[in-house]
Amino acid sequence: MAEYDVIIIGAGPGGYVCAIRCAQLGLKTACVEGRETLGGTCLNVGCIPSKAMLHASELYHEATTNFTKMGLMGQSPSIDLPKMLEYKQDSVNSNTGGIEFLFKKNKVDWIKGYGSIPEAGKVTVGDTTHTAKHIVIATGSEAASLPGVEVDEKVVVTSTGALELSKVPNKMVVIGGGVIGLELGSVYSRLGAEVTVIEFQDAIVPGADGEIQKNFLKMLKKQGLKFELGAAVSGTTIKNKKATVSYKKRKDDSEHEIDADIVLLATGRRPYTDNLGLDALGVEMERGMIKTDGHWGTNVKGIYAIGDVIAGPMLAHKAEDEGMAVAETIAGQKGHVNYGVIPGVIYTHPEVANVGKTEEQLKEEGRKYKVGKFPFMGNARAKSHFAGEGFVKMIVDAETDRILGAHVIGPMAGDLIHEVCVAMEFGAAAEDLARTCHAHPTFSEAMREAALACGDGAIHA
Ligand code: NAI
Repeated sequence: MAEYDVIIIGAGPGGYVCAIRCAQLGLKTACVEGRETLGGTCLNVGCIPSKAMLHASELYHEATTNFTKMGLMGQSPSIDLPKMLEYKQDSVNSNTGGIEFLFKKNKVDWIKGYGSIPEAGKVTVGDTTHTAKHIVIATGSEAASLPGVEVDEKVVVTSTGALELSKVPNKMVVIGGGVIGLELGSVYSRLGAEVTVIEFQDAIVPGADGEIQKNFLKMLKKQGLKFELGAAVSGTTIKNKKATVSYKKRKDDSEHEIDADIVLLATGRRPYTDNLGLDALGVEMERGMIKTDGHWGTNVKGIYAIGDVIAGPMLAHKAEDEGMAVAETIAGQKGHVNYGVIPGVIYTHPEVANVGKTEEQLKEEGRKYKVGKFPFMGNARAKSHFAGEGFVKMIVDAETDRILGAHVIGPMAGDLIHEVCVAMEFGAAAEDLARTCHAHPTFSEAMREAALACGDGAIHA
């Protein structure tokens, strides 16, 4: 048994960042984690391994489609999936190992095992109970289940199983046209699988800007992915290591079936709070999530919650920001997260990124706005990289020119979006971005051109 100022349960991006910040602020800190390695879903079986697979499959695609156009001749590479998975695991290991190093450097104790909270101020791991003035729950989320779909992680897989396939499937059916479905669907499509995405809504990436949804769908179709929109999956059956997926088209209630070697279930995630003892403690919940106040406190004094277990987008960087902010709050500082400026990125090719409001949201709010758009076809760097597909769309207040949101589909979108995030944090107008010198030739010039388009007009469009 040991005494701490703070014990954090869960070492994903929310938990480990919170632990490091607590220690930096002089608090005696421990982090409880039951996995063999630190980093949670994101580093072990989520963001990091999927990005490794996206990177490898994208380079394969580049080699087989664009190399000869650039005078790079010779035999195209072939796919060795086990070797690719080794590369993926290496990048996971170096990242999880990095967190272990940071824990040691910052003197954060890693309590190995799964924790529960017998009462406020106490955390039990195995046979030992530790005391802590403050407890932060950062236990993340798990794939949501879908009635009639039984996951065996072999034929019917979640993202975890999809990152461990022993061979590229001939036919893959993805249930859910959200972020996970489109990222992993893209990976296997590029590696040669015939991928069909079945999505309940009439558009992919529900909640995204409408123009982005339409153009993104077109680009993915051009890449060979197939889509069944407005269709609800009602079940899967497995026979001889192959699956049949049943679905109903919403417009006419007609029943359909499709066969697949692999089915990826990607219909969302749910907060993971099992076995923490929250019921007995009387921690208030709301729609399966832990209810928190404006400072990440639960209704039980001394117990806080951050990341996927509370409201808001289930994103690693949102959890990280909350981790830092709650640490600062516990240390007596003024922790703050600006929920209006949390970017979202889909790491497909091209990438899709957004921050702030969509046109649809502004219409609903009745707010007057202007739109500035710029196509990557007008960006010299993008064109020379065969990456002229897509556009930047900036949305500003019609009267003040203040930036309200940006939506990007195109090369490096996930990096470019941060220019707008910083601008929004400073309450900038599009003119501020438009008057900022951008190096030529860079992809970032497209951001400036979209800002110019909010005023007197873009130069290269
Ligand atoms: P999601 O919520 O993004 O998409 C799920 C999709 O499944 C929705 O479009 C929904 O309409 C559809 N759906 C639900 N029931 C269905 C049914 N019966 N038949 C057909 N379609 C159905 O969830 P996803 O992709 O599983 O991701 C989970 C979480 O992880 C999300 O919050 C996401 O933001 C996060 N994530 C973020 C990443 C990133 O930032 N790049 C990468 C991977 C995950």
